[in-house]
Amino acid sequence: MYILGMESSCDETSVAVVEMGDGVRRICSNIVASQIDTHRLYGGVVPEIASRAHIEAISGITREALDTAGVTLSDVGAVAVTSHPGLIGALLVGVNFAKSLAFANNIPLVGVNHIRGHVAAAYLAHPDLEPPFVALVVSGGHTSIFRVRDYNDYCEIGATRDDAAGEAFDKIGRVIGLPYPAGAAMDKLAHEGKAGTVTLPSPALAGDTLDFSFSGIKTAALNYINGMNQRGEDIPRADLAASYTERIVSAIVKKTDVALEREKPLALVLAGGVAANSHLRAALSDLCGRHGVKLCAPPISLCGDNAAMIAAAGYYEFLDGNLASTSLNASALDSGE
Ligand code: KG4
Ligand code: ZN
Repeated sequence: MYILGMESSCDETSVAVVEMGDGVRRICSNIVASQIDTHRLYGGVVPEIASRAHIEAISGITREALDTAGVTLSDVGAVAVTSHPGLIGALLVGVNFAKSLAFANNIPLVGVNHIRGHVAAAYLAHPDLEPPFVALVVSGGHTSIFRVRDYNDYCEIGATRDDAAGEAFDKIGRVIGLPYPAGAAMDKLAHEGKAGTVTLPSPALAGDTLDFSFSGIKTAALNYINGMNQRGEDIPRADLAASYTERIVSAIVKKTDVALEREKPLALVLAGGVAANSHLRAALSDLCGRHGVKLCAPPISLCGDNAAMIAAAGYYEFLDGNLASTSLNASALDSGE
């Protein structure tokens, strides 16, 4: 069946058509209209501007997604839309558009959790992947480890207690002059420097907790930068990026190591915008090799926010009969409440 997916939780408006069924997981179209150039002027996402830009984009890219896929609304078996978590005004645009489209055309509607959407990107990239597995979601707003028992049965076994890894990359990247969002540029810059040459504390929490904390290393890096600026010294940007990245990546790897040891899954799914990080991908590939676990990391094009992943997650909600009514609402919270 064809699922029409819609995503508007942050600064990307995306609409996709995905074909899902027995042995079929196919992306027919996945249109992403990014607002990054607009928000870059402000050094971060401005929620009000994001909502307005979603309104301007969503009708046009829905048409484009259907035309590119070569399907009409009468071919669509379900509309799946991100309903939580995210920026509330931004989410409301997608939810209301999806509701109107679904009910005007008598198509079932499904509300999708954005984080589960990121995990579902792995189904599209790895046709044989099935739960149970462990999922590591690393994005601008989340850093969490899940035990995924079934397609719609998630248990969070670790989460950040403060900042997400993406936020930690973006903040320090911005301070050293990289354009928003700085994650990808930090990744590149880190290849030009030498890890360990700037002394930073390890952000890995002590003990066997699977939680993360990145606010301490972010503050340590800020203090280092301020100290260098006060002394009028040049900041070794590449060495800082390399040292900072190494610390963040090793904390993520350390906790994932504990999770794999404890859960003994067959596969580890890596998801979220920071899943594009080359240093993290390489380190997790080594880790999974040591554990004999299959690493399922989507291609870079499916790591960031996109609607194909929402359609894939929506398909499994649809199969379980988790349909939304006309009262579907958006929520900023992970719980959707
Ligand atoms: O999943 P995503 O597109 O949006 C959220 O749901 O948060 O993630 C965006 C985050 C941003 O913080 C961005 O800087 C980061 O992913 N990111 C990266 C890389 N590419 C994107 N972080 C590190 N290395 C990258 N290559
Ligand atoms: Zn996301």
